[in-house]
Amino acid sequence: MKRVLDWNKYIEKAVQTVAEGIVMLENNNALPLESEDTVSVFGRIQLHYYKSGTGSGGMVNVSKVTGIVDGLIEAGVKINKELLDIYNKWDEENPYDQGSGWGGEPWSQKEMPLDEEVVKKAASISKKAIVIIGRTAGEEQDARIEAGSYLLTDNEKDMLKKVRKHFEKVIVLLNVGGLIDLEDIIANKPDALLYVWQGGMTGGTGTADVLVGKVSPSGKLPDTIAYKVTDYPSDKYFGDMKCDRYTEDIFVGYRWFETFAKDSVLYPFGYGLSYTTFDIDLIDAKNNENESIINVKVTNTGKYKGKEVVQVYCEAPQGKLGKAKRVLCGFAKTKELAPNESQSLEIVVKNSDIASYDDSKDNHCWILEKGKYYLHIGNSARNCPNSFSFTIDEDRVIEKCSQALAPVTEFERIKASEGDNEVTWTMEKVPMSEVDEEKRIAERIPAEIKYTGDKGIKLADVLSEKHTMDEFIAQLSDHDLSCIIRGEGMGSPRVTAGTASAFGGVSDRLMDFGIPAGCCSDGPSGMRLDCGTKAFSLPNGTLIASTFNRELAEELFEFMGTEMIANKVDCLLGPGMNIHRHPLNGRNFEYFSEDPFLTGKMAAAELKGLHKVGVTGTIKHFCANNQETNRHFIDSVVSERALREIYLKGFEIAVKEGNADSIMTTYGAVNGLWTAGNFDLNTVILREEWGFKGFTMTDWWANVNYRGGEPKRNFYAPMARAQNDVYMVCSDSSCVDEDIENALKEGSLTRAELQRNAANILGFILKTHAMKRMIGDEDTVEIINRGTDNDDTDEPVVFYDLDKKVSIDLSNVKSVKGENYSFALIVKNEGWYRMTITASSEQSQLAQIPITVFAMGTNIGTFTWNGTQGKPVSYSLEMPIFSRFTTIRMYFAQNGLDLHSVDFELLKAAENMDLAFAAEEK
Ligand code: BGC
Repeated sequence: MKRVLDWNKYIEKAVQTVAEGIVMLENNNALPLESEDTVSVFGRIQLHYYKSGTGSGGMVNVSKVTGIVDGLIEAGVKINKELLDIYNKWDEENPYDQGSGWGGEPWSQKEMPLDEEVVKKAASISKKAIVIIGRTAGEEQDARIEAGSYLLTDNEKDMLKKVRKHFEKVIVLLNVGGLIDLEDIIANKPDALLYVWQGGMTGGTGTADVLVGKVSPSGKLPDTIAYKVTDYPSDKYFGDMKCDRYTEDIFVGYRWFETFAKDSVLYPFGYGLSYTTFDIDLIDAKNNENESIINVKVTNTGKYKGKEVVQVYCEAPQGKLGKAKRVLCGFAKTKELAPNESQSLEIVVKNSDIASYDDSKDNHCWILEKGKYYLHIGNSARNCPNSFSFTIDEDRVIEKCSQALAPVTEFERIKASEGDNEVTWTMEKVPMSEVDEEKRIAERIPAEIKYTGDKGIKLADVLSEKHTMDEFIAQLSDHDLSCIIRGEGMGSPRVTAGTASAFGGVSDRLMDFGIPAGCCSDGPSGMRLDCGTKAFSLPNGTLIASTFNRELAEELFEFMGTEMIANKVDCLLGPGMNIHRHPLNGRNFEYFSEDPFLTGKMAAAELKGLHKVGVTGTIKHFCANNQETNRHFIDSVVSERALREIYLKGFEIAVKEGNADSIMTTYGAVNGLWTAGNFDLNTVILREEWGFKGFTMTDWWANVNYRGGEPKRNFYAPMARAQNDVYMVCSDSSCVDEDIENALKEGSLTRAELQRNAANILGFILKTHAMKRMIGDEDTVEIINRGTDNDDTDEPVVFYDLDKKVSIDLSNVKSVKGENYSFALIVKNEGWYRMTITASSEQSQLAQIPITVFAMGTNIGTFTWNGTQGKPVSYSLEMPIFSRFTTIRMYFAQNGLDLHSVDFELLKAAENMDLAFAAEEK
């Protein structure tokens, strides 16, 4: 099939998403900007728009990022040029700190100290000031309650104070991945305050569209903004190095605040202003056996065009379980309504979405407890002027489950109950696991398919239904099966260069059976292609959630999917679906919301878009990956109820409604068992209860354990037994693995289980474009209107063997401003290496020609050459190389360097990955 990807339309959709995801918290006649306004922009981040956070969720290579000032200029706004020049000059003298190493970029940049005279002068030529405050975020660490992280720095506070003093109107824009402290901002009484989030490479255009009033803001908060971090009920144990006890239970975010602590809220969940106003009228509502159907009429009562989000929250009777007073159970967004225009919307609320999970002994079911149910309808968790109620006479079990994933450590949780005049809370003991896990697993070991050896059946014969999957799998030896459960990467040469992993056809023998290698690439907001190939960088998850617009997310991800086909990528490692349980979580930017319903619906929408063109997203991290501190070892201790209602719910929606077919587990443990080897999670809940039919994978180099045992990497037997299908990642998936062989001998793993996992993987692969390519039925993608964004060469990346030492000739390579040169190493010994780059330049001695080196997408360091009068000059650095396939990319910020060679020399071998990791962490 021939497909066309129109880059302009892709940009348009991304820009629309940005504009719809911006949340306006305040506006005292400062916005939209008027055509006569000249605007003074403060804050150095105006020159370095944060398109995303860092780490795997932010490493999309782009040719250009449109920042907010670029967007404003493109939109025709008059900018105070003199002030911009001052920032540019200071920025040149105080270069942006890229940091180095994995997650090494600082979360904020030094701010330009502001001379009061500069501010005064700016105010004399413009009435309106825009102050931009920026933060990045990323994996492996959480934000901290420190200046430059969650809090403002002294320079930022000083900037706000001075700007406030001299300007008539102050507009504050937060270019951040997640929530930051607003106290010092609010103290300066900004006239407008907007979370513009991180909007990907077109973020500035979408932001400008809102600022100039081309689009009225319609984004709504996907999180509650409380006054203080300590107000969030999860704060007590968040960040603990060993064990994070979820004592707040189901009372996450607004569920807590709206039930027990309304006064702690600065801006409620679901809140967001527009340039116009709306009336939401309840036309009619009814409840039947399975659902409630609500009809509302939304009227634009103001002067601007705009969109509104209608939100429905359930207030269930407290019953014996205790409930939150507000639970989001439906939402819909209007089209753009002109002043006085109305639109009718129908919102269907399924009874299963307002049910509670009873995790008490012998119950384990989704239940609607008897009593009066209210559905509150409005435009935030706080503002719901319309209500509809119905009564359920008898307790109604919606679905019976078996106890799964329950705690093994005693702890107490918050429990709500009906008090005299209001709902009150106490602490209660959490029901403990009573499951005999070994018995549960033993009862479910599948029947073995008899080994036949190679019968000449190819995977394509299963596709054409000439043979069954069982007949195909019968041919695979124990060794073949041991290979297929190990993904290869990062940067496996079997798939697109510089991607996260290959799976499926990961050995020559498996390929001979006609199994193609499928390709996974990070995720979630665009493709991470470590060789430097440019890709579209999309807005982050939190921004997408703030749009509350499912159709838009679906449309955007259809474009994304087509771009994936063009790059031969089958699985995008995202969307990230973990719950914003605490505002300091380092990866909140990748995730959607504190609410599981919104999370699940937005993820399902993205998946639908990807599925339309035959690719998919790997939803992650399954489940309860809610802190980055010590993420490889943290144990999340959570009740079964909170897991079901909060931490699993979004995934359940993505599986059942979004037909998710690929899932990644987490690094850490839930209730003592690392998720990568957790049978209840991967088999009982995911497959038996939810009917998941796809394949699952671990997070990269994840730990696995047996109950009570030590977690370790590459621990395949408990992983495979739990029916987590693929270990991500191995350096060579085709080698013999003695542990698997021993496990098969001992019986801690059976061939039947491996066959079952192989069937999951192959069943998935059958539907991929990788399979289509294998059988010669490849889709082609013509990308049109990409313009200068399309300067990548199609030349394949060269792989060099690195056996302790290698010298690579670069005499044909010259530095060209803005371009990359990439190659890959096949590394025999992992460890610490010295890398030396030799180059010369004919330019003057004052010239500065930097090369920034990235290994597997991570910034390793920058070397700067001056003119060398043509003589070769070498620079070296020491770096860990811990992956068998290591892509190296050199980014040239200037012209004028003639490269000669790059040399690698082993300094200290690391005997295994753990050592290499330890070395890196050191
Ligand atoms: C992250 C995953 C990511 C993987 C591959 C891990 O560090 O936790 O989300 O997909 O790396 O890059």
